[in-house]
Amino acid sequence: MDHFEYRDGKLYCEDVSVADIAASAGTPVYIYSSATLLHHYNSFAQAFPDTMVCFAVKALSNLNVLRLLSEAGCGFDVVSGGELARVLAAGGDPSKVVFAGVGKKDQEIREALEAGIGLFSVESEPEFANISRIAAEMGCKTRASLRINPDVYDPKTHSYTATGRKESKFGVDINRAPEFFATWGRDPNVTLDAISLHIGSPIYSAGPYVDAINKTFGLIDALQASGLEIRLLDIGGGYAADYEAGASPKAAEYAAEILPLLASRNLETIIEPGRQIACNAGILLCEVQYIKHGADREFMIVDAAMTDLLRPALYGAEHFMYPTALADGEDAPQRKTDFSPPNAICVDVVGGVCESSDFLAKGRMLPKMSRGDLLAVFSAGAYGFVMASPYNSRPRAAEVLVDGDTWRIIRPRETYDDLFASEK
Ligand code: LLP
Repeated sequence: MDHFEYRDGKLYCEDVSVADIAASAGTPVYIYSSATLLHHYNSFAQAFPDTMVCFAVKALSNLNVLRLLSEAGCGFDVVSGGELARVLAAGGDPSKVVFAGVGKKDQEIREALEAGIGLFSVESEPEFANISRIAAEMGCKTRASLRINPDVYDPKTHSYTATGRKESKFGVDINRAPEFFATWGRDPNVTLDAISLHIGSPIYSAGPYVDAINKTFGLIDALQASGLEIRLLDIGGGYAADYEAGASPKAAEYAAEILPLLASRNLETIIEPGRQIACNAGILLCEVQYIKHGADREFMIVDAAMTDLLRPALYGAEHFMYPTALADGEDAPQRKTDFSPPNAICVDVVGGVCESSDFLAKGRMLPKMSRGDLLAVFSAGAYGFVMASPYNSRPRAAEVLVDGDTWRIIRPRETYDDLFASEK
């Protein structure tokens, strides 16, 4: 579910017409629904009670969104000093922060120790040694998990975002983990009593989590036999989202298979959902600039581009998109990328960037649209704005947060001055 729906033929976000937002904030613009974000966060909190839910900041990192989630009780998964700074600036609780990532720099480690984060998810031996050294220098103690690579994957996950396979740069091979714990399991500066998993994203069923957790339990037993107690398991993120209606299991459906397993052990637990919380809480709204007749295809050129939403160009991701105004008497569309309304035409939806990879959709059946019409690209809340770039010196889009019948700009559209003022 989400709070984007057609009312009397016009697309609304909660109780606000998205065309009204475009009229005032301009396009392209990202529009997020507070009620959807909170609903999705609460679905995880309820489905996984006694588990710390740490929103993956990389999915949608606007301070206003982080503040909303933090006030609802959410913790955060960060992968850089910048993400940690965002969480702190948004009033997030550092003790509910997990810091993952293979390349943590000394300065980032110091910042995290100063903030007093809850957990470092460590990805290699030299990284552990470095955190221990810096903690000793700073005279503080911290806690870490070892991120293991359980060698499981979901065949539906794009190879660029599959992380749980043997050949991935992430984590430490599960077979090497006993040696890792034997070396570092009694470190005086960093308590290593936890294991982290993150097997990829998106994972469209609970099966790969179950496999990975079962493999991890084998490791936990082996470690216990050698006198090392594991107290915390972080099962990571990756829960899929409804890019098409009904495509993904809901939080409760993942929980139905994962929780009975976890209940068999007395472990603290963490989950790190990003996409399922943010994806359908946001749309990218753009305006049709030109309809261009190519030699054998029709191009709909819009004012958003790969610089605003990179996922189609980078992963071949398919986002449902549709005009914000329906024809007289037209029913609301089914959110399926192969949905074909009556009188549809086949178009490539493209932006104005000088790259052939600059497309939002290829061969899409859409109602005939004209210059000035608004097109909503759905399921763009996660890995949308955060992956935007100013390539071609295109100012990044504005971001708007809707709450009931009110809305506000939570990041203004970049100006030309924002693009180059610091270069003068
Ligand atoms: N935890 C860790 C350690 C992660 O690396 C990730 C995502 C997550 C949690 C959150 O995964 P989620 O629940 O959002 O699926 N840019 C790609 C997705 C990259 C995900 C990277 N790691 C995309 O647009 O599909």
